[in-house]
Amino acid sequence: MTIHATGFAEQHARLMDEIYRGQRHFYDVTRRYFLLGRKDLIEGLAPPFGGSVLEVGCGTAWNLIAAAKHHPDAQFHGLDISRMMLTTAAHKVAAAGFGPRIQLAEADATSFKPEDLFGRPTFDRIFISYALSMIPGWRDAIDRAACALSAHGELHIVDFGRGEGLPPLFQTTLHAWLARFSVEPRRDLEPAIARIAARLDLEPTFNQLYRGYATLAVLRPRASSLRRPDAQPTRFISDRLSAGEPAAHVARPPQRARA
Ligand SMILES: C[S@@+](CC[C@H](N)C(=O)[O-])C[C@H]1O[C@@H](n2cnc3c(N)ncnc32)[C@H](O)[C@@H]1O
Repeated sequence: MTIHATGFAEQHARLMDEIYRGQRHFYDVTRRYFLLGRKDLIEGLAPPFGGSVLEVGCGTAWNLIAAAKHHPDAQFHGLDISRMMLTTAAHKVAAAGFGPRIQLAEADATSFKPEDLFGRPTFDRIFISYALSMIPGWRDAIDRAACALSAHGELHIVDFGRGEGLPPLFQTTLHAWLARFSVEPRRDLEPAIARIAARLDLEPTFNQLYRGYATLAVLRPRASSLRRPDAQPTRFISDRLSAGEPAAHVARPPQRARA
């Protein structure tokens, strides 16, 4: 396992390890009651035959194992910044007999390099389930994931929603309780996703589930961009910016044209 960490990422990794050191042992049993929408996301992934799927912030691999059962013809990959969570994930993957189909790696969602971690630059499906609400640089994590999609790739996201149909007292109590575990529902999740999608020429769709408890978002290539012939290899926006390319050139529409 490789970690690409700056000082801040190392600090965050330590925080995640502290939070999950004990919790990871009963995480799967407890989270099924309040991480709602995960099954909807898994069922909706529909990867192509033989396709590749990456989960960013995979935790104990509960989603990866469920997705591998649901989509038996795909290969799965998961990354997480917490070594503790990955240790539990590796045990669960092996116990479920999915060792050959689920690969795990330690990495920061905001700076991961898929080629270094998994030997491939892109994935047919990437999903992020209840991790953005724990990642300080969550917009960069969405950006990074969106840039690692193959030409026909889709990014699926589920996290705490706007809660518009929920009693305000429930919302306040839930958010106060989540804050104790460094979980912060992202109030501007939808506009942030929409902005990233627009820049990368992806089409976003949003669904509020369970009276707004959860938001399920999917970013897909626009039909028009799939037909464009001027293919270019994927390069992460942050890498292009640090290489000194002007911001006007970092959008990625032509890349989406590859078959
Ligand atoms: C609430 S758990 C969700 C786990 C899993 N996705 C699920 O739905 O059960 C959030 C996960 O995100 C991971 N995480 C937090 N910050 C991260 C980062 N910067 N990069 C990668 N993973 C991160 C945590 O270690 C934790 O495993």
